[in-house]
Amino acid sequence: MAIGEDEFRHSLAAWPSGVTVLTSRSGDRIHGMTVSDFSGASLSPPLVAVCCQLGSITTDLIAESDCFGVNVLAADQVEISNRFASKKYEHVRFETVPYTVGLTGSPLLEGAVVNLDCKVVSTYAAGDHVIYLGQVESSEVHDRQPLVYWKGGYREMRIEEDK
Ligand SMILES: Cc1cc2nc3c(=O)[nH]c(=O)nc-3n(C[C@H](O)[C@H](O)[C@H](O)COP(=O)(O)O)c2cc1C
Repeated sequence: MAIGEDEFRHSLAAWPSGVTVLTSRSGDRIHGMTVSDFSGASLSPPLVAVCCQLGSITTDLIAESDCFGVNVLAADQVEISNRFASKKYEHVRFETVPYTVGLTGSPLLEGAVVNLDCKVVSTYAAGDHVIYLGQVESSEVHDRQPLVYWKGGYREMRIEEDK
């Protein structure tokens, strides 16, 4: 028998993650949401996986466009993370955030640590989420500290000197 939702949430919260803003574009509509369920999936070909809740506007837009951008947020982008997670700011999410447009048309946020522009190659149903597997068409990495999320809060990374 499977464990309950609260117990599962509690278990997952103990897993530290980075924070991304997942974006997409279909026609002249752009949208995006905060996502921590992001992972590399294959090196060759270069694939990433993102888990998106059913019913989210971003999830629907990706289903429509078959493309997405992954923006790994920097430590100083907490406000952006909160904005892209909040329904209150649903219609103004991109207003204060400069972005460029990737090859797929997905918005790529400035100030992020990494920007990945991806084309959906597979979609998997996963309970109340859908998993999109995307092939990375282009990537940009910047020398910035990443934002970390753990046990329901944003954390600072402690950097140990390399031995
Ligand atoms: C730190 C953090 C991580 C999140 N991770 C995910 C995630 O991995 N997948 C997801 O579907 N929603 C995730 N969310 C929730 C969405 O960002 C939130 O429901 C958003 O309002 C959905 O926006 P939309 O319906 O406008 O697309 C996360 C929220 C926060 C604050």
